[in-house]
Amino acid sequence: MYKKLARLNEIKEGLIKVVETRYASIAITKVADKIIAFEDVCTHDGESISNGKLESGSIVCPRHFAKFELVSGKALCMPATEDLTLFEVRISGEDIEVDIED
Ligand code: FES
Repeated sequence: MYKKLARLNEIKEGLIKVVETRYASIAITKVADKIIAFEDVCTHDGESISNGKLESGSIVCPRHFAKFELVSGKALCMPATEDLTLFEVRISGEDIEVDIED
């Protein structure tokens, strides 16, 4: 079910907004004009990955430095072997809506 989690003007490239829902912590950012929403959990050992470093379309976990491609969620290097959980996003006017089970 889609829920409004942010406004378009709140999300900028190079920044991450985290929204707590009952279901999950959802991190939202923008990459090459595309809004990306992903679970704020590193698949290696559960670190809050929104505290990681953004690097040209990827994010690096602050704990053991696994790297993930944001557009696909793909784990790009060890120690992570599982991809990030991404959520479907749709834009409704100025609102960013994310498909979550809440
Ligand atoms: S918890 Fe993210 S790389 Fe280990």
